[in-house]
Amino acid sequence: MTAEEQKRQVGEAAAALVEPGMVVGLGTGSTAVEFVRALAARKLDIVGVPTSEATAALATELGIRLSELGETKTIDLTIDGADEIGPGLSLIKGAGGALLREKLVWEASRSCVVIGDASKCVKVLGKFTLPIEVVAFGHKTVVARICDALAECDIGMAPVLRRREGQPVRTDGGNVIYDVACGVIPEPALLAAALKGVTGVVEHGLFLDLADRALIGGPDGVRELEP
Ligand code: 5RP
Repeated sequence: MTAEEQKRQVGEAAAALVEPGMVVGLGTGSTAVEFVRALAARKLDIVGVPTSEATAALATELGIRLSELGETKTIDLTIDGADEIGPGLSLIKGAGGALLREKLVWEASRSCVVIGDASKCVKVLGKFTLPIEVVAFGHKTVVARICDALAECDIGMAPVLRRREGQPVRTDGGNVIYDVACGVIPEPALLAAALKGVTGVVEHGLFLDLADRALIGGPDGVRELEP
């Protein structure tokens, strides 16, 4: 089974968790796209809260009613992909650049389910680059402070400004993103706290203690994991 087929399979399994009347957080990325498609196909009476402009556009095209974060009652369930799924369902997210809106929606949700193909599961976080969203104003200055925070956590790699076609990528919120090839993140909670302490860092891609469940696609079908 290809990674694409695994994504479709977990997308469908995740859509089956949604019940009529729910407010549902809609993730971002290629796996979340499969979930949104499968959810739309069920034609349930639900309200979606998108985590990016891209997901909002797809959901609207597929006929899912949308609301903005804060305009509905609590979000019942959020379903989203991840770049890495580590021990205790600790995650790296943000390759798609939607980490800030994703984290806001996840934190406002009663329950969060992460979905991915088997390649996303790791024993230690850090092989995949860690995105750090930074205010555009003075971002080159902020990076020096980020390097100090990384060094406190025994990470010596330099953050790299994310670019597309030569230009810095801007998030939906107008910020820039730096990616860090940490290799290994020995203590994710320590790093998360250190990065949060840097003025100008808007958010980072470490999602810790947020996922309640994971649905992982694999050659033998969908496997469920708990923290
Ligand atoms: C976007 C994300 C995505 O969920 C993450 O990058 C996984 O994407 P994909 O399902 O395409 O591998 O965090 O900001």
